[in-house]
Amino acid sequence: MSDRRAGELSPHPEVRVVAIDGPAGAGKSTLAESVAAHLGVERLDTGAMYRAVAWSALTHHVDVTDAEAVARLARTMEIDVGERVVVNGEDATVAIRSIDVDRAVSAVAANPAVRSELVARQRAWVAQRGRGVVEGRDIGTVVLPDADVKIYLTAATETRARRRARQRDDGRSVEAVHDDLVRRDRLDSTRLASPLPSPEDVATDAKVIDSTGKSSRAVLEEVLACL
Ligand code: DC
Repeated sequence: MSDRRAGELSPHPEVRVVAIDGPAGAGKSTLAESVAAHLGVERLDTGAMYRAVAWSALTHHVDVTDAEAVARLARTMEIDVGERVVVNGEDATVAIRSIDVDRAVSAVAANPAVRSELVARQRAWVAQRGRGVVEGRDIGTVVLPDADVKIYLTAATETRARRRARQRDDGRSVEAVHDDLVRRDRLDSTRLASPLPSPEDVATDAKVIDSTGKSSRAVLEEVLACL
């Protein structure tokens, strides 16, 4: 189905762009997927783009703290984020979710030159389609401040850690995943370039939803109520 036809069939034709921000494990991907299906549009997982750059740096033995080298890599990489994540023709869907990438990605996401490259690509993705659901950390504040609907999805740290551990199923204990999440939240929210805002500090026009103790269906209903 073309985007145009999907748009015509959309139950909310006036809603073209939805931004979903929030910390790791809040349930953004599940929500973004169901909102996109509801609207009949594509979704873009911008975290997967930062992961793709981190994975590529690790694979090419580029030091992730070497800002210039990582930026050069980001500018020259082909990244296709859809059902699969394809980097320079290679399927990296599974590899970008490894523990090593989890640990390396905050340094990559804190690199201002990487951010400006990826933000430009994210805006181009939306410009090409004219519609879409985009999930990340800075979508409603920096990437697409004119998004029609902005959601900031959060959840208690323990809930996020439990969800992440279940999704990954890589043998790590919930406690180990919890400690990694807390560490990553701290790095993401204290970096100088587009830090992850706290719920009190999100785009003023964003709807803050706390998914703690809620089913994904209940969270979706809350979002649909603001379309
Ligand atoms: O959502 P995630 O865990 O896949 O994100 C991976 C990393 O990228 C995480 O450290 C936050 C960062 N990120 C970002 O800084 N800006 C975005 N728009 C998306 C993700």
